[in-house]
Amino acid sequence: MVIHALLAASLAVTSLPATTSQAKIDCARVKCLALTFDDGPGATTPAVLKALKQAGAKATFFLVGKQVEQRPEIAAQVVAQGHAIGNHTYSHASLPTLLDNQILDELKTTQEAVQQATGRTPTLFRPPYGHTDDRVLGLAYQVDLAQVLWTGTTLDWKLRDAEKIKAAVLRLAKRNGVILMHDTVPATAKAMPGIVKELKKRGYHLVTVPTLLGGKGPEPGESYP
Ligand code: NI
Repeated sequence: MVIHALLAASLAVTSLPATTSQAKIDCARVKCLALTFDDGPGATTPAVLKALKQAGAKATFFLVGKQVEQRPEIAAQVVAQGHAIGNHTYSHASLPTLLDNQILDELKTTQEAVQQATGRTPTLFRPPYGHTDDRVLGLAYQVDLAQVLWTGTTLDWKLRDAEKIKAAVLRLAKRNGVILMHDTVPATAKAMPGIVKELKKRGYHLVTVPTLLGGKGPEPGESYP
């Protein structure tokens, strides 16, 4: 019965257009993994998008407001390809060091920049450097944002080597995991075709964070995973 359902689910997924396939993936039934990309959009984001598209994979991009203003067309491309987007603050600030109104300003100006560039308002945010606390979470609630952290960080910005980054992703990959990478790191973009190929070979469905959460979120003011 379970195998039958799995088979039916995978058939349904492959037979639908890429943009609508995510809704059909049930991560309670199949092995899912969420790749997430922070700090863009940047010069190497299109290469990451290309690798995801070729693999029929979806991901989540946490966008920096200032970067969105500089490359609005790439932000729009992220959304057009069916990926999820999140708020990564306007200036990549360490939020707990700021006053309440400054934190709200970081979040709100980014919501506006993303809305203007993509027509979408994010429901997710990721605090830069993972720096967060209950006050940040309370303020995120006011802006209708759920917090998304990660289960594994590749430290791709430090590795700066495609083979090492691929090895890190494969080591960190686990069912329902959330992997932190950066679409602004050239070696990450270079590693992506090999990463998605190997993850798919290992049976992972590469999904957005909302798909990973299924019906269990995202709820504003809550933190995931
Ligand atoms: Ni960041």
